[in-house]
Amino acid sequence: MYQNAIEQDYKQHAQLVGVCDKNEGRMQLARRRSQEHGATPPPAYAPADFEKMLADTRPDHVIVTTMCATHSEYIVRAMNAGFDVISEKPMTTHADKCQQIFDAIDKTGRKLRVTFNYRYSPPRTQVKDVLMSGAIGDVLSVDFHWMLNTFHGADYFRRWHRQKKNSGGLMVHKATHHFDLVNWWLGASPVQVFATGKREYYTPTMAKRYGLTDAHERCHTCPEKDKCGFYLDLAANKSLKELYLDNEQYDGYFRDQCVWRGDHTIEDTMNVLVKYDNNITLAYSLNAFNSWEGYTIAFNGTKGRLEHVTVESIYLNGTGDTQGGFKPKGVTTTIIPIRGAAQPIEVWQGAGGHGGGDNVMLDDIFLPNPKPDKYLRAADQRAGAMSCLIGIAANKCFETGEPVKIHELVNALKDPDYAPMPPRTGPVPMPRKST
Ligand SMILES: NC(=O)c1ccc[n+]([C@@H]2O[C@H](COP(=O)([O-])OP(=O)(O)OC[C@H]3O[C@@H](n4cnc5c(N)ncnc54)[C@H](O)[C@@H]3O)[C@@H](O)[C@H]2O)c1
Repeated sequence: MYQNAIEQDYKQHAQLVGVCDKNEGRMQLARRRSQEHGATPPPAYAPADFEKMLADTRPDHVIVTTMCATHSEYIVRAMNAGFDVISEKPMTTHADKCQQIFDAIDKTGRKLRVTFNYRYSPPRTQVKDVLMSGAIGDVLSVDFHWMLNTFHGADYFRRWHRQKKNSGGLMVHKATHHFDLVNWWLGASPVQVFATGKREYYTPTMAKRYGLTDAHERCHTCPEKDKCGFYLDLAANKSLKELYLDNEQYDGYFRDQCVWRGDHTIEDTMNVLVKYDNNITLAYSLNAFNSWEGYTIAFNGTKGRLEHVTVESIYLNGTGDTQGGFKPKGVTTTIIPIRGAAQPIEVWQGAGGHGGGDNVMLDDIFLPNPKPDKYLRAADQRAGAMSCLIGIAANKCFETGEPVKIHELVNALKDPDYAPMPPRTGPVPMPRKST
């Protein structure tokens, strides 16, 4: 995404001056892409030469898009060398790595931006707008349920994400998007988390219940590929082939590991309760084996309820149909006042990846003099921490069964800048009598 943006839509404002990756083949692919874009192929550096890359190329920003658990290393190394950083989500996967990022910022004074593209998708920005308007009064609680289907959801169990030490599990890798949305939508910071998590679907037992003899190593060499509904053919997909299959020789990484293996360390079924500093409570769930992909969220307010439902399109290996009979990619947002008829809202439209969020965010990153943003969608390390720490706390809770206080995970946490929300005090209109 960043390479295409830098070398195509924003080429007047940006240039890719160097690439660093542990896989030599993927760096050469990036260089070939530059050539296709008519840009100068960037020099490629191995991870040990990261500081040399920075010294040679003197970039305005380092953009970190490596495996999640490695973000903190590159953020800290870039800052120590004197450079500002843009990091993909999640900012990091573990509390000690979060502390290292905070310490590096304190020491160097460098800037970090965490790219929460979901904030920028027009329908989600519109939810923020409705909440800021006070249309449903003070939000007292939130019910939020995210469904990953058996195409997209299964894919986390094939890739490096399947090990918690790499990704932080779905509570961090995936739910950081969702927790950040809630934090930002509410303009509030989490204080305490309680959670349960388990893996009961992507297991060798389920493989056997589906009639397979066992889990295997990977799809590419699977003896039961004809019987398995989760078979992924890397060779049949141009992008997957050139990114992963053709580059296995360099790092031995298989992008199509068996979803049924017993050595996953991440969960597929998660439930989380979060208490916020303004007393709002969030009930959240994430399930990775659903029949449809998307989410439902309801904000329960003193004047009414805001319901927002998004059905996302099928991902990787899907048929292009939408399971469950939903219209493809449907978004509905509705205000239901405490008395009276529900009011459907005309949903703001966007185009492109992640609900139209990617394009709006890339404008904000790459165009000079971005417009002032009343929703304050650009996020720094404070918002990066507040979202990933909910997931990190949930992971801790999975192990201990005890609630976790967010401020006990990292020293000197500070609240992010939030767009002004309506005051939660003062008179509110009495609902009319129901009879
Ligand atoms: N914002 C979004 O919606 C979004 C979407 C997809 C991915 N992401 C994030 O982007 C990051 C990459 O995800 P991806 O799907 O592109 O994964 P990927 O596996 O396709 O790419 C990761 C790259 O990092 C390299 N790498 C891994 N460890 C490294 C290390 N120690 N040093 C140098 N290079 C290393 C790998 O060789 C690979 O080229 C993740 O943090 C992910 O959360 C964000």
